[in-house]
Amino acid sequence: MADQFSFRLLASDGHARRGEIAMPRGTIRTPAFMPVGTGGTVKAMYMDQVRALGADIILGNTYHLMLRPGAERMARLGGLHEFARWPWPILTDSGGFQVMSLAQLRKLTEKGVTFKSHIDGVVYEMTPERSIEIQGLLDSDIQMQLDECVALPAEPAEIERAMELSLRWAERCKSAFGDQPGKAMFGIVQGGDIAGLRVRSAEALKAMDLKGYAVGGLAVGEPQAVMLEMLEATCPVLPSDKPRYLMGVGTPDDIVKSVMRGIDMFDCVMPTRAGRHGLAYTRRGKINLKNARHAEDPRPLDEESDCPAARDYSRAYLHHLVKSGENLAGMLLTWNNLFYYQDLMRGIRDAIEAGRMADFAAETAERWARGDL
Ligand code: GUN
Repeated sequence: MADQFSFRLLASDGHARRGEIAMPRGTIRTPAFMPVGTGGTVKAMYMDQVRALGADIILGNTYHLMLRPGAERMARLGGLHEFARWPWPILTDSGGFQVMSLAQLRKLTEKGVTFKSHIDGVVYEMTPERSIEIQGLLDSDIQMQLDECVALPAEPAEIERAMELSLRWAERCKSAFGDQPGKAMFGIVQGGDIAGLRVRSAEALKAMDLKGYAVGGLAVGEPQAVMLEMLEATCPVLPSDKPRYLMGVGTPDDIVKSVMRGIDMFDCVMPTRAGRHGLAYTRRGKINLKNARHAEDPRPLDEESDCPAARDYSRAYLHHLVKSGENLAGMLLTWNNLFYYQDLMRGIRDAIEAGRMADFAAETAERWARGDL
C-alpha cells in the first residue's frame, strides 16, 4: 500500500483521463464516483455492499458529523473509518456548502462563518482552520478547503467577492493542513457562471501547488450547458498531473459529459436519495416505481444486470414496497442505483483505456433516449 498520496495518469482519450490515486488506505480508480455517506452511513446500504459495488472511496460531511456525534467524540472513538466500518479512503467536504444550505442564522465574515445548528439551535463558529481541524479529527484522507459557494443566478460582484474570499480561505486551509504525506487537501475553484473568474480562481489555486483541485459552485441552478462551458474554461488551466473533482454532480449524463471535459472524481446524492424516493436508474433511463403502470409488471428492472436488486425482483414487487413505504424499497432501489452508477464509471474507465470514450458516450445516450421497454 502506498505511504504517500499520489496521482498517476494511465491513459487519456481526448480530454477524458483514466488515472489512479494511491493513498495509504487504498487506491482510487478514476474517473471515480464517490457514494455520499453524509453522517457516517451511505443511507440504506451496508458498507460491505458499497465496497462490493466497486466504490474505492466514499464522501463524508464535516457539517453533519461536527454537529452529531461531534468531531472530538469521533476522534475518541477512533475516527470515522473505524466508527462506520469503512477502512478505505474517505473524502470529507469542508462544511461551508452545507452551512449555506442547511444551517440557520448564518453570518459570514473574513474570519469564517457562524451558524445555528439545524438540529438543536446551538451556535457554532466555522473558520478555515477549524474546518481542517475537524476533518483531521474525523481522520479524513482527502480534506476540502472551506469555501463560499453562491447560488446562481447571482450578481457578478457577489460571485467575484465569494471567489476571492474562497482563495484567501484556501491559503489558510493549506497552512492549517501543513505537511501530511499520506493525506491531501484539495482547493475549490469558484467563480459562478463567469469564465474569466473561473480562470482566475483556477490559476491562483494552481499557484498554491495543492494535491488536488475541485470545481465547486456548479449544478446550483444553472443549465447544463453553462456548467459544461465553465468546465471547458477551468480544466485546461488546472495542472494535468493532479486529480480534478466536480463537487455535487450529477446525473449520469452530467458525469459522462464532464469526464469528456477532463473531470476525474464525482459525488452526488442522486442515486441514494432517488432510491429512497422510488426512482430507479437503469441502462434504459429512469423508472419511477410509484407509477401505477408497474403494479402488475412481472419483469425485473433490468434482466441483464449483474445486480440482484435489478435482476431478481419484479417491478410489481418494487412498486408494492414503494407504495407501502417499506424500508426494503429504499434498500433495493439504492442498491440498484449505486450499482448503476459504479457500472457506468467502470464503463467510462474501460472506454478511455480503449480510446473509445466518444463512442461510449454516444451509445449510452442512445440507450437512455430509447427509453424504458
Ligand atoms: N458541494 C457541491 N458544490 C460545492 C461547493 O461549491 N463547495 C463545497 N464545499 N461543497 C460543494
